[in-house]
Amino acid sequence: MTIQWFPGHMTRARRQIQDKLKLIDVVIELIDARLPISSRNPMIDEILQGKPRMILLNKADLADPEVTEEWIKYFKEEGHTTLAIDANTGTGVKDIPATAKLLFKDKIDRQIAKGINPRPIRALIVGIPNVGKSTLINRMAGRNIAATGDKPGVTKAQQWIKVANREIELLDTPGILWPKFEDQNVGYRLAVTGAIKEEILNIEDIAFFAIKYLVQFYWPAMKERYGLEEPPKDIDNPDEIVAIMEAIGRKRGAIISGGRVDLEKASSILLRELRAGKLGRFSLEAPY
Ligand code: G4P
Repeated sequence: MTIQWFPGHMTRARRQIQDKLKLIDVVIELIDARLPISSRNPMIDEILQGKPRMILLNKADLADPEVTEEWIKYFKEEGHTTLAIDANTGTGVKDIPATAKLLFKDKIDRQIAKGINPRPIRALIVGIPNVGKSTLINRMAGRNIAATGDKPGVTKAQQWIKVANREIELLDTPGILWPKFEDQNVGYRLAVTGAIKEEILNIEDIAFFAIKYLVQFYWPAMKERYGLEEPPKDIDNPDEIVAIMEAIGRKRGAIISGGRVDLEKASSILLRELRAGKLGRFSLEAPY
């Protein structure tokens, strides 16, 4: 799914989230573990207006585990409650309710001390498109509730889903946020993971960006998969990156007339294999 985020869409999305904030106690902010900053809305603090929040690094199954650990440390240092999860298989998801309750421990303890039965904590999942919001809602609910690929602006009746022994109530429609496109590298990182469609950016440029990054940080995986010999001597020399793209194309038989490599096809193959995990787990951003 691709959404062109014009200012009107942003304003509407923001208003929709702020309407929902009135109903809830805690925000579950979902970001992509492979690119936690690029998959984050730059105005999130302002939008959430101080609501208690936890940050979930989703798709942790695809991310480099060592880098994910660093991100957890980073967000904790920033004062955030943070968990790494995989909404697809459910890894880490069972810890979400207890973590949400911890954010309210004082309030819950006070209520119990007064003899009041604490009411369920109401939670809202927010995040940019494709980060896994619907997958997580369905996973927490234990059944298919949210349609994956929900579009902003499409309204339907909101419902509460009772989870974790009825101690948490989750809003069934997530809050959809927009990514920050002003920095071109953010767009490229999102495109490498498939979070934004290739039509927005040129596929060869996306693959170029990916190769430049991968040869620096994941050279053994690149070398092995594509039978490469030497890493580029000068990472800033575009010819050396294109030479690797050509080597990938030759390895996969992406040849056009005259024996030249079909760079578009080579790009498409690399990105498909990367997203399918054929080059192993990778992260596109590190905090330190
Ligand atoms: P959204 O509501 O935030 O827009 O995202 P959604 O749940 O629709 O998830 C987007 C894609 O990400 C889905 O793939 C989903 O299966 C995948 N996904 C969600 N969470 C995880 C996770 O923790 N790990 C992995 N590996 N994948 C996850 P899809 O339906 O195949 O869509 P697409 O890949 O064709 O975009």
